[in-house]
Amino acid sequence: MFPKTIAWKDNRVVILDQRRLPDEEVYVECQSASAVTEAIKTMAIRGAPAIGIAAAMGIALGALGIGKKNFTPFYQELSSICKTLKAARPTAINLRWALERMKGVCEANKEKGVEAVKGLLVNEALAILAEDIETNKRIGEQGKDLIHANDTILTHCNAGALATGGYGTALGVIRRAWEDRKGITVIATETRPLLQGARLTAWELTREGIPVTLIADNMAGYLMQQGEINLCIVGADRIASNGDVANKIGTYTLAILAKEHGIPFYVAAPLSTFDRGAKTGAEIPIEEREASEVSTLWGRCLAPQGIKVRNPAFDVTPHRYVSAIITEKGIVKPPFEKRLKQITGKDGG
Ligand code: MRU
Repeated sequence: MFPKTIAWKDNRVVILDQRRLPDEEVYVECQSASAVTEAIKTMAIRGAPAIGIAAAMGIALGALGIGKKNFTPFYQELSSICKTLKAARPTAINLRWALERMKGVCEANKEKGVEAVKGLLVNEALAILAEDIETNKRIGEQGKDLIHANDTILTHCNAGALATGGYGTALGVIRRAWEDRKGITVIATETRPLLQGARLTAWELTREGIPVTLIADNMAGYLMQQGEINLCIVGADRIASNGDVANKIGTYTLAILAKEHGIPFYVAAPLSTFDRGAKTGAEIPIEEREASEVSTLWGRCLAPQGIKVRNPAFDVTPHRYVSAIITEKGIVKPPFEKRLKQITGKDGG
């Protein structure tokens, strides 16, 4: 069974603290929207769909804490909470998508009064969580036949149950294939600087008995050259209208390597990850995180004090390197633009 990333319990948001995995399985209990914002910023919870769900629950918590009885001042305060939550991490569009959905609930129900709207917001956040798990299972179903018996699949970062409400996107496809394909095995890149591949993907797959081998990021090219990888599947934080994909830093490098070696490079993502407002990947904001994530490791210096550091958390893979995008509504192959427009319709971000 996949791990429970996030839950709503007695008007609290309970988050599996991913900073502490795989050493410890501990939970953070958030009692306010600002506690949820902090959990997203510090990556106690991470992964595009998971932070969308956390933001929705954060809004529900925030709403419960607002004392205003009239809708207009209530909504003003809630909108300011939305703004803070939205700024927590800029690249994954699921955050904005979830917040807009929550605001839509307020606007559609304002005549019912503030207390009723609060209840509806809690229900909406729970619906977003439940729908996300269902969506991931559909992505798994759509993508499973891209994986054949005895395939070795490379994945980057963590696009699993931990990055979503449950089941996962890229790991969802692998999970589903694992159910009926014999001999599949996964190569997990460690994913510097925060090691989501080593700490989270390897943990998630191991506890389910799905064979996984860990490599350092710079080993992927060698393994591809040796013919040891059959396909790559990764997740996405935001996909532009032309099919350019923003995902964890290093995805671009892997996609180029895959093309050079004739290896299919698949992206698995829900429709909530598509940004219909971005024509190309150049319009996607890339989060730049703290230098210490690169220059230190668990409190130890890895480089001279004061060293200049760059730490972009994501990169954009141009669509020409993407073999197909697996969504809950089907597999989209190049040329992407027209088909993506049809498929994202009203559900896109
Ligand atoms: O910085 P992170 O750990 O939030 O980055 C996560 C990723 O890049 C995932 O691949 C992406 O969010 C897709 S998760 C289904």
